[in-house]
Amino acid sequence: MVTAVTRRIRIFDTTLRDGEQAPGFGMTAEAKLEVARQLSKLGVDVIEAGFPAASPGDFEAVRTIAETITGPTIAGLARANEDDIRRCYEAVKGAQKPRIHTFIATSPIHMEYKLRKKPEEVVRAARDAVALARSLGPEVEFSAEDATRSDWNFLVQIFTVAARAGATILNVPDTVGYTTPKEYYDLIRFLIEHVDAPEGVQFSVHCHNDLGLAVANTLAAIEAGATQVECTINGIGERAGNAALEEIVMALRVRRDQWGATTGINTREIYRTSRLLQSVTGIQVQPNKAIVGANAFAHESGIHQDGMLKHRDTYEIMKPEDVGVPESSLVLGKHSGRAAFRARLEHLGYQLTDAEIDSAFRRFKELADRKRTITDHDLMAIVGDEQAHRTVTEVCRLESFQVVAGNERIATASVRLVREGEVVQEAASGDGPISALYHAIDRAARFEGQLLDYRLNAVTEGEDALGEVTVRVRAGDRVASGRGTSTDVIEASARAYMNAMNKILSGAALAVSDDPAPGWQMRAYGD
Ligand code: KIV
Ligand code: ZN
Repeated sequence: MVTAVTRRIRIFDTTLRDGEQAPGFGMTAEAKLEVARQLSKLGVDVIEAGFPAASPGDFEAVRTIAETITGPTIAGLARANEDDIRRCYEAVKGAQKPRIHTFIATSPIHMEYKLRKKPEEVVRAARDAVALARSLGPEVEFSAEDATRSDWNFLVQIFTVAARAGATILNVPDTVGYTTPKEYYDLIRFLIEHVDAPEGVQFSVHCHNDLGLAVANTLAAIEAGATQVECTINGIGERAGNAALEEIVMALRVRRDQWGATTGINTREIYRTSRLLQSVTGIQVQPNKAIVGANAFAHESGIHQDGMLKHRDTYEIMKPEDVGVPESSLVLGKHSGRAAFRARLEHLGYQLTDAEIDSAFRRFKELADRKRTITDHDLMAIVGDEQAHRTVTEVCRLESFQVVAGNERIATASVRLVREGEVVQEAASGDGPISALYHAIDRAARFEGQLLDYRLNAVTEGEDALGEVTVRVRAGDRVASGRGTSTDVIEASARAYMNAMNKILSGAALAVSDDPAPGWQMRAYGD
C-alpha cells in the first residue's frame, strides 16, 4: 500500500555536539566549521554545534558556526541553569536562526543521585530555564534527559510546564539506549495525547544505540507522530553512538510506503559528508556499515552477482549514486587535462577555487604517473587530503625522506625538512619503518610527539591502490589528528604525521582538556 507523502520530518544533526563528545571524535574549531558547511549542503534543518558552557573552545566553535553558516538553524546545548543559558545565547545569537537547547534529567535515578533534587525542584528548574531562554531568543528546545526511564505522568507534567514557559520543541531522549520500538512508540503517542502544549509545539526524539535499536526506535517514534529526529553522521556519539542520520533518511526514502514521510536531505551528499567526518576525526566506519560502509553496495557472492547482472533490483534496494557513492570504474587517466579534471570534480559536487583546483590537479598528475586507473574514489581521497592540509599552517615542510627496513635489521629513516625557513636533516631508528620515520621527523622538527593512534586504509582495490593514513598525535597538552594519502604507504604516513604536527605547532590543535577522548588508548606502532 502506498501512503501519500504528507509529513515533513525535520533532521536535527548533533554530530558536532553529541557525536563530538565521544572518545576519539574531538574536532578542532576549523574541522567543526568544515563539517558544519557540509551539513548545510546536506540539507539538515538544525545543526547542534556544541555545548558552549563546556569550554572556551566549544564556545568559540559554536559562535563561529553561528556567524558563518546560513540555512539551517544553529543550536547550542545548555544545562537548565542561568549561566549555561546565557553563555549558550551569546554563542548562538549571531545565527540567522538561533536555538537554545536546554535539558534536565527526569528519571528517578538521575534526579536522586545525579541532581540530588526533588521532582518539584526539577520542574521549577525546567520552567525557569525555558522562560529565561525564551526571553533571549525565539526558539527554545527542552529535553527531559533519560526520558525513557522516567515516570510517564511526570513527563507529561514537566513537558506541559516547559511548553507553557515557551519551549517550542519538546525532546524525549532515550539517553541510555534502553527503550524498544514498541515502548517508544507508545510513549511518544502518550505524550502527544496528554501534554497540554500550545499549537505548533513539535515533538522530537533522540536515541542512543546501546542495544543497537537507535534507528528502529527513531522510526517507531516517527510513526507515533514525532516530527523532529536527532541523529549524527555515521551514528557517532556517546558509548555505542546515536541514531545514524543516513540510515534514518534512507529508510524513510526507500520505504516511503511505510512512513509516508519525507526530509529535506539531499541524499546525494550523504557519502561525501560521511567521508569528510571520517577524515577529520581519523576514525573510519566499519566496512559493513549500512549506507556508507565500503561493502554497503558490494556484491561478492556468485549468485548475487549473477542476479545483479540480470537485473539490478534483484539485490539492490537503492542505488549507490542515490547517496553519492562515486563510481569505481576508470574515470580519468594520465592524459586527462585540467578541464576534464575540474568537470569531474564538479560532477562529484565539489566547488573549488582556481588555486584549489591547481593544487589538486598537481596531486592528480603525480598519482596518474604511479597508478594505472584513477577512479572517483581516488579523486575524493585527493581532494580530502588537500582539504586536510590546506586548513593547516605549514610550520614545517617535509622535503624528502628515506627509510630502510627489513626483518633482520633495525629500521632507520632520514629526513630533510624545512622548519621556519631553516633546512634540517636528521636520522633515527625505530621498531619499524613508520616508527623510525616519525622519530626522525620529531628530531628534525624539535617536536616531542606521542602517537596515540595510527590507521591505514586502502582507498581502492589493487596493488597500486591509494593508501589513506590517519593518525592522532599528542605533544604536551595538545592533541591533533592528521591525514595523508599516497600510493606509497610510508609517504602517506609521513603526510599524516606532518599534518597533525603542523596543527599542534601552529596552535590549531585541541588542548587535552578540550579533547573528548580521555579513554583513548595509547597504541604501539611497531609496524
Ligand atoms: O542523550 C541525551 O539525553 C542528550 C540530551 C542532552 C539531549 O544528549
Ligand atoms: Zn544524547
